[in-house]
Amino acid sequence: MLIAPSILSADFGKLNEEIKSICEGGCDFVHVDVMDGHFVPNHTIGPVVVKSVAAAATKPLDIHLMVENNSFFVDLFAPFKPEYISFHIEEEKHPHRLIQKIRSYGIKPAIVLNPHTPPEAIEYLLEDLDMVLLMSVNPGFGGQKFITSVIEKARKLKAMINAKNLNTLIEVDGGVNDKNVKDLEYAGVDIVVAGNYVFSNSSYKNAISSLK
Ligand code: DX5
Ligand code: ZN
Repeated sequence: MLIAPSILSADFGKLNEEIKSICEGGCDFVHVDVMDGHFVPNHTIGPVVVKSVAAAATKPLDIHLMVENNSFFVDLFAPFKPEYISFHIEEEKHPHRLIQKIRSYGIKPAIVLNPHTPPEAIEYLLEDLDMVLLMSVNPGFGGQKFITSVIEKARKLKAMINAKNLNTLIEVDGGVNDKNVKDLEYAGVDIVVAGNYVFSNSSYKNAISSLK
């Protein structure tokens, strides 16, 4: 299992140190939640902060857009060379075009599905994606309760990916802890995002290894 701690739960007063600790603690990606106060009822960080995050991180960035006007934000964050940029299918009229745009920057495109969105919504985009991110909470805030129906959704999605002979990764985001991570692993999930679970532990390294 690959681990992507969400810095939403980090102490932003010492963000540099926090990012160094998760990277030294063995994380695989640094998950960056970008919220615009429109698509979700919360507002987080923009390019000024993400520039510092990119400079401090020794692991690749995984940028999760929770915004209106995805294309504008892709242009804004592409210069930081993240491994992935993911955008919500619920907020995009032209997902195929946006996938091509992200790829043209040399960045791996990913699509996010909210808890109510079925995997069939992206069936004909799967072969163009490097990853699908399944939300296991309603996007907007860290520290929420895990929505268990994501396990069945991950299983369905994994079957779709296998049926098409693809290598698309599955990531799950929200309320992940050392208990539910096992079910996610069995369902075929490759990467989990964990905010509260990692950053509320006195040792980030122990939290990351217990998830692994
Ligand atoms: C929610 C974010 C998540 C969240 C994860 O909108 O996308 O990345 O911060 O945090 P936890 O693990 O605390 O649910
Ligand atoms: Zn996220």
